[in-house]
Amino acid sequence: MKLQDITPLLSYTFSSEKELLDTIKEIGHNFTLNRREIGKYTQDEKYVSAYACFYLLTNIPKLKAALEKINLFKNELSSYEIIDIGMGPGTFSMALFDLDPHLDVVGIDSSFPMIKQAKKFIHYFYPTGQFKALHISELAQIKKKSKPRLGIFGHSANEMDDERVIDYCHQLELDRVIFIEPGTKDFFEKMIRLRTRLLENFNILYPCLSNLNCPIAKDDWCHQYLKVSHEVDVERISQLLHKDRRNLPIIIHDYAKKNNVQKEQAVRLIRVQPRTKFSFEWVGCCSFEKKNKILEMQIMTRRYKKSKIKELQKTLAGDLVFFKAEQNLPDGKIRGELIEF
Ligand SMILES: C[S@@+](CC[C@H](N)C(=O)[O-])C[C@H]1O[C@@H](n2cnc3c(N)ncnc32)[C@H](O)[C@@H]1O
Repeated sequence: MKLQDITPLLSYTFSSEKELLDTIKEIGHNFTLNRREIGKYTQDEKYVSAYACFYLLTNIPKLKAALEKINLFKNELSSYEIIDIGMGPGTFSMALFDLDPHLDVVGIDSSFPMIKQAKKFIHYFYPTGQFKALHISELAQIKKKSKPRLGIFGHSANEMDDERVIDYCHQLELDRVIFIEPGTKDFFEKMIRLRTRLLENFNILYPCLSNLNCPIAKDDWCHQYLKVSHEVDVERISQLLHKDRRNLPIIIHDYAKKNNVQKEQAVRLIRVQPRTKFSFEWVGCCSFEKKNKILEMQIMTRRYKKSKIKELQKTLAGDLVFFKAEQNLPDGKIRGELIEF
């Protein structure tokens, strides 16, 4: 979606590009450095509009890329009644309607200015979608249908305390819950606490390969990467703000009532280092002998054709590979080969 498409629908009209950029910078500052002021941007139409011009537009493509990572395909979405929790100006609801304009989506938020903006966008761009935007005081209006319920937290669990997130999962009777949240160490710590709570009622489908304990060391963290692209006028704003919104660290977690069935030798990549002259050096997590374990892999490039190496160079943290271990190296790494599936 282009910036020029949403501009006429904004709740607030910016007098100049400078005013817009300054307002986005202020929001960004509060997100990263001044988290005590984090809620401020949701209460004022000027901030909500600036959020939409930058964060909504650059977050929309993340949903499709994240669903691809977790293998939730476009045609499966209509089998769910979807709740966009902390929808903001409608970011992921819009991304969902881009994938299938006939989906059944309810967006909820604690901010009235955000809800107003979301309604404007969605009624204008996706008139055929079954969309309801509700304030969190109106949750009783969401009646359980026969379809299973999928809840999506998009950059919103990050603004809620743990108890609130868990309450939503129970209160909204979710059958599946997906988190698409900032790829920061702080959020990882929160996600690990939430993981423990969620595993009381759900199984984890992504990124972990089993419900067993997370093996990540205390000072380390696990996140994924998404590569996305934007319209020219959105990219221009990103460049003026000196923010790269195309290569995005992200934390994606997916929980469901159904079981997680993993193939043998599966490894979820946690860190993809730049290729060395002779090898790919990747760190991954695997489930082995009733434990989730960290695996430092070395994959020699000489075994592969140029075209395969080119393909492997596109590998990102968060991808799944299948690895056959062959040799323990003195530095603790394991040399082996990738298995095709
Ligand atoms: C960073 S925005 C994310 C908006 C949108 N999901 C996105 O990805 O761009 C976080 C949103 O969560 C909402 N929020 C914060 N606390 C909430 C709560 N307890 N219940 C519902 N929404 C909440 C805020 O009002 C805000 O709109």
